[in-house]
Amino acid sequence: MTKTITTCANANIALIKYWGKRDETLFLPTKSSLSVTLSSLTTTTKISSTTKNQDEITINAKRARGKAGKKIIHFLDLFRRPYGTALRFKIITENNFPTGAGLASSASGFAALALGFNQICHLRLSPRALSMLARQGSGSACRSIFGGFVIWHKGKHLDGQDSFAEQLFPESFWPDFRILVVVIQEQEKKISSREAMNLTVKTSSSYQSWIEESEKRLPLMIKAIKEKNLEKVGELAETDCLGMHQTMHDAHPSINYWQPTTQAIIEAVKELREQKIHCYFTIDAGPNVKIIYKRQDQEKIIEYVRTIKGVKKIITCPVGTGAHLINTQ
Ligand code: PMV
Repeated sequence: MTKTITTCANANIALIKYWGKRDETLFLPTKSSLSVTLSSLTTTTKISSTTKNQDEITINAKRARGKAGKKIIHFLDLFRRPYGTALRFKIITENNFPTGAGLASSASGFAALALGFNQICHLRLSPRALSMLARQGSGSACRSIFGGFVIWHKGKHLDGQDSFAEQLFPESFWPDFRILVVVIQEQEKKISSREAMNLTVKTSSSYQSWIEESEKRLPLMIKAIKEKNLEKVGELAETDCLGMHQTMHDAHPSINYWQPTTQAIIEAVKELREQKIHCYFTIDAGPNVKIIYKRQDQEKIIEYVRTIKGVKKIITCPVGTGAHLINTQ
């Protein structure tokens, strides 16, 4: 097999969050979640088989020998056995945005890798089965298999066969929906989302009540998206996000991903709303903030956010497409 497969996948941002696993080995979540795929945060991955006796993983032009490389090798180990235990891969993966800083690089990364693996091993998996494959690299990756607005069903079964992602609305559904990614930190975060969520599940006093409230928000969020009601989508997303970060604060030891600039952006969003500019924030496991809004308000929002001390980069994202094959050589 000398073929090289190139695939591409976009990151996603959860409007109703996934935070915690009921099964850490199979990556089964404690609750369902809902995300929107981000068109401008993209991972491109090349995968080919190699005759060497070990996998060769390169992430952003550097050989990945540490944690990130091990996660990829572990993922390959889970699935390569039926195709020959000696099968080794050369993987070159590039993100066009900061890696490991809470911008869902693992989501786009494992979605692109799952699709590449599917192609190179001729698995012919359905998108649903592909989402279950990606899920076992990083939970949120299952949602990046699809474009548009995507749900990840938590499922009930112990084997995870009913825990998959599915597109609810395609990327063309809400053409003026936008996400602004406000980058304040480009370095890798100190505590991974995997470690932080496990600690939260085990020790946080507010975790169970957040789960219950968040589950009630999910059908309301689907309805709000269906009605293209930005105000409702925004309110639900902010409440869900603040609740998730509260569960981390209530963990032992307490976890905090925010920085002073994170707080300043939240205040700016509220201030913009007072000026009748409809925009809302959400934050994943990192200090960076995503703002949701409609296209017509983009300039005013960017103009305001740009003046905040500590803002390093602003990326505008229309709703993005799902993981796809770029070429086969
Ligand atoms: O898939 P992971 O392990 O990177 O976890 C992602 C968790 C959040 O980004 C904080 C929320 C989510 O639903 O994406």
